[in-house]
Amino acid sequence: MLMPIKTPVYMDYHATTPVDPRVLETMLPFFSQDFGNASSTDHLFGARAAEAVQKSREQIASLINARPEEIIFTSGATESDNLAIQGVANSYKEKGKHIVTCTTEHKAVLNTCKYLQDLGWSVTYLPVDKFGIVDLAKLEEAITDHTVLISLMFANNEIGTIAPIEEIGRIARAHGVFLHTDAAQAAGHIPVDVDGMNIDLMSISSHKVYGPKGAGALFLRRHGGRVKPLPIIQGGGQERGLRSGTENVPGIVGMGKAFEIARSEMDSESRRLLQWTERMRSAFESKARAEQNGHPIQRLPHNLNMYFKGVDAKALIQMLVHEVAISAGSACTTREVEPSHVLLALGFAPERAYSSVRFGLGRFNTGEEVDFAIEKVLSSVAHLRKIFA
Ligand SMILES: Cc1ncc(COP(=O)(O)O)c(C=O)c1O
Repeated sequence: MLMPIKTPVYMDYHATTPVDPRVLETMLPFFSQDFGNASSTDHLFGARAAEAVQKSREQIASLINARPEEIIFTSGATESDNLAIQGVANSYKEKGKHIVTCTTEHKAVLNTCKYLQDLGWSVTYLPVDKFGIVDLAKLEEAITDHTVLISLMFANNEIGTIAPIEEIGRIARAHGVFLHTDAAQAAGHIPVDVDGMNIDLMSISSHKVYGPKGAGALFLRRHGGRVKPLPIIQGGGQERGLRSGTENVPGIVGMGKAFEIARSEMDSESRRLLQWTERMRSAFESKARAEQNGHPIQRLPHNLNMYFKGVDAKALIQMLVHEVAISAGSACTTREVEPSHVLLALGFAPERAYSSVRFGLGRFNTGEEVDFAIEKVLSSVAHLRKIFA
């Protein structure tokens, strides 16, 4: 029997994900029963909280092949990006004041770099090809004796393109430069191995992987080379002095459980989601003359970014608002009227950026929802093209 479809169908999993019921269940005792302060361990309340925080560190570390002591809890990937970039810049400014990043990064990285530029650092913004991949030869050319950090994202939040992080890590290591990667969209969705990929700092977020909002972490290498950023928040010295402030114990517990689930279900989940994004892509290409943005193969399995020529993306999203929840790009910039900086960086005209939409599929979607979304998008595209022809 076909399950009835509950609308609107959520297909914006890159913006955020619902908390997995198993995660919520794990978190609940830590609000009002085991509510202790993880730093006040003189009594059992605090000790229980500290133990739970430690367990989460282990769960997260094991997903990314790190050690628990290399996980610093933050409020999310935005804060982790700031701590990584500002922290390294401030700590190593005697070596030099140069950072290398790229044009398609998230605003959490781009605006942090811009902030440092205002304070006197120089930043190289590497270009990308039409699929969103940085040119590795240009990366090598950009590195100077004054470069202290390379910050390149693992997977792009708009077009899903996955960077060649292993090669980038090799280049960074060969030049003795720290590598930071924003893996907010990658960790928990595709394999990430900080050791095998020579990553020194890595930002991760809980709410992109079915954990609660307001929790995140920064992986900070302590073994096989050590990186020591300065803190950006001063206070009581929690998280090895790098992130002061009482730990968000329920959030941290939820993040750990979310990463543990991701570790055991990633393979089957990503296979299922890839089948569905491929089904959508081929329907949109063959029935609506749509074109894919981003890399056709090196992309997140649950991502699909499509260009519908002649269709205003905002009008399409609005028309579908009670049926399918999709977006025109990154959640953090949807209030802007500017075209997506990512699509422009691929070399496309603003017209293409204004006519592109992002589909982000996830754990709680069903095959019926995918077919429903295909049908609704196709009929809305046809309708809008007729009106504006
Ligand atoms: C690539 C990337 N980096 C950083 C962030 C910000 O993450 P958070 O909401 O955890 O601060 C996001 C979320 O949109 C993202 O996609």
